[in-house]
Amino acid sequence: MLQELKELRDCALRDIADAETEEELEELRVRHLGRKSQLRSVMRAIGSVAPAERPALGQAAGQAQKAIQQAFAARQSDLEGADTGDPFDLTLPGRRPLAGRLHPLTALTEELISIFSRMGFSIADGPEIEDEYHNFDALNTPGDHPARDLHDTFYLEDGRLLRTHTSTVQIRVMEHRSPPVRVVSLGRCYRRDTVDATHHFSFHQIEGLYVDENVSFADLKGTVAVMGRELLGEETRVRFRPHFFPFTEPSVEYDFSCSICHGRNRACRICKGTGWIEIAGAGMVDPAVFEAVDYDPERYTGFAFGMGIERIAMIRHGIDDIRLFLENDLRFIHQFRS
Ligand code: PHE
Repeated sequence: MLQELKELRDCALRDIADAETEEELEELRVRHLGRKSQLRSVMRAIGSVAPAERPALGQAAGQAQKAIQQAFAARQSDLEGADTGDPFDLTLPGRRPLAGRLHPLTALTEELISIFSRMGFSIADGPEIEDEYHNFDALNTPGDHPARDLHDTFYLEDGRLLRTHTSTVQIRVMEHRSPPVRVVSLGRCYRRDTVDATHHFSFHQIEGLYVDENVSFADLKGTVAVMGRELLGEETRVRFRPHFFPFTEPSVEYDFSCSICHGRNRACRICKGTGWIEIAGAGMVDPAVFEAVDYDPERYTGFAFGMGIERIAMIRHGIDDIRLFLENDLRFIHQFRS
């Protein structure tokens, strides 16, 4: 009987291994484990053998049954997998992990920080929700000043506002530190501008401020020239034009020479054929600003500049629509290596 059990088990395992479909397997289950199976009749026969032999036979029969059941279960899951497309198909190509990229503005911000760190500037930060005092009054722009028109912005009910430029950080830094001060501040600004390809209600600026004894306009020129060469290439030149800002005197706007056509393309999209690209505002800190922060205007001089970060990114990458920066479209962001 022991021999018979062994043969039954081996035969069943062979059949199971050969089964190609779930239906076939089901038939085999009935044949090898069902009520009319040989295994069952052997099990029934055990009841009539000599009592001394029963335990060993019973155990052997139980083991054979268990082995066959396990083989069924294993084959069953193999066949199910094959039918539905095995989720563990090792031949499929793997899923590529989606690697993150830096947003072009983040990458440029980090680059600017590195450029100015090398020139000895430290980094300062200020709030995007500001009060009128830091955004306007302390910057020599009182309530009735026409320059406020250009900086219309979003006001909160308590009278605070979304800052219109990073010049606010000049004031915040000077309120807490005495000269020498050499800082840059980078961050988001807001204006109530109608959105189009070159205007947005939200943009980024970098502000630079250097205050000490004997800081001159030549220092401003040198600093801006280095920035131009680092950002747009060795051959970049800078041009200053007289301008007006309430918080600097004298004030200028400065241009970089066109890094795209070098002044050679009349139809250049970036410089419109002029060879120069308007970049930013700057000037020598107005004595009225020093007075607002309790610096001695007889002793200290300083320069400040403010520049749009989007503007530089647009020139560098040939981006023609400022709205792209804020749309968070991965097809845009993934075009930039960082
Ligand atoms: N804050 C000015 C603006 O946003 C730029 C500026 C900064 C001008 C510092 C002069 C000095 O228009």
